[in-house]
Amino acid sequence: MKRILVLTSGGDAPGMNAAIRAITLAARVKGHIVYGAIGGYQGVIDNNIKELTASDVEGIINQGGTIIKSSRCPEFMTEVGFNKAVKNLKQNKIDYVVVLGGDGSLHGAQALMNVGINVLFLPCTIDNDLAYTKQTIGFDTALNTITSLLGNVRDTSASHDRVCVVEVMGRECGDLAVYSGMCSGAEVILVPEIKTERSSIMQKVKQSVNTGEKCVLVVVAEGYGTAESVRDEIKKALNIDAKAMNLGYVQRGGSPTVADRLVATIMGYKAVELICGNKSGFALCGAFNDVSKIEISKAINQKDKFDKTNYAINNIISV
Ligand code: ADP
Ligand code: F6P
Repeated sequence: MKRILVLTSGGDAPGMNAAIRAITLAARVKGHIVYGAIGGYQGVIDNNIKELTASDVEGIINQGGTIIKSSRCPEFMTEVGFNKAVKNLKQNKIDYVVVLGGDGSLHGAQALMNVGINVLFLPCTIDNDLAYTKQTIGFDTALNTITSLLGNVRDTSASHDRVCVVEVMGRECGDLAVYSGMCSGAEVILVPEIKTERSSIMQKVKQSVNTGEKCVLVVVAEGYGTAESVRDEIKKALNIDAKAMNLGYVQRGGSPTVADRLVATIMGYKAVELICGNKSGFALCGAFNDVSKIEISKAINQKDKFDKTNYAINNIISV
């Protein structure tokens, strides 16, 4: 029997609950006990740890967010905070920590691994900014949500012959902008990975307006800049009206899609399989139903998986 601690860290992501459920149920079947640290690394520092039972995870596979809460925890990055967390893990006789989170959380997992704690990692972030895995849990749901919202924006903008600039999340990664923009027929997509001259943005918008397009949709990744700043430049350069909006936190909530539930469930199950085999120091990776593992030390060093080809496709067909 092993004592497994699960924690969700960083921005929450749809599918975290599905993963928590899979870990809890699979561990139970194999005779292990699962605990949840409430609020990510902060919960470990504060010793806010609760057992997770089958009834705790009942009916959560379709719920967005995370039932064990998440946080950004700067204290964990201090020596004092980190040592407190390690001490609590030892006092609670935790055999394994399973971290669910994004890039920052992966670094936290590595820090625990480096002091001899058994750690596994599941990639959970809407940003899709972990280069080591094809899919991060939460990305597909956020993509669907954003694409649906961009469709609404297009409907109303087309009714008023408007230019609309929409900012989407993603931190320093343009994937949410590229793929939601592609699936919404965006005329312009602006991402941090590609340097776009202001003059070429204006030229594209002008061309779209001149060819009589009813709606000109500009999707801006937050890592590129704000919707307001791009809107202001369009208004100034082209002397036309334009609207700006930041989609905000609606992008991060919502019931996970099938793709996210599936990969979360399989990764959660495989994490327990690794625990049963006494394996640690791995990050789960893959997409949909094709899941495997990679050493955390290798996963952490992979950078920049931005797909310029997909970005180019939209550029070619958008005007
Ligand atoms: P995400 O995991 O979604 O990228 P953050 O970057 O906010 O979100 O990271 C989540 C938490 O992971 C941080 O609040 C911190 O507690 C921990 N963390 C981030 N970077 C490190 C690091 N270099 N070393 C140890 N812990 C880290
Ligand atoms: O990492 C997920 C994310 O939603 C990013 O896209 C965004 O920049 C950030 O989290 C917002 O975080 P917070 O909830 O701390 O404002």
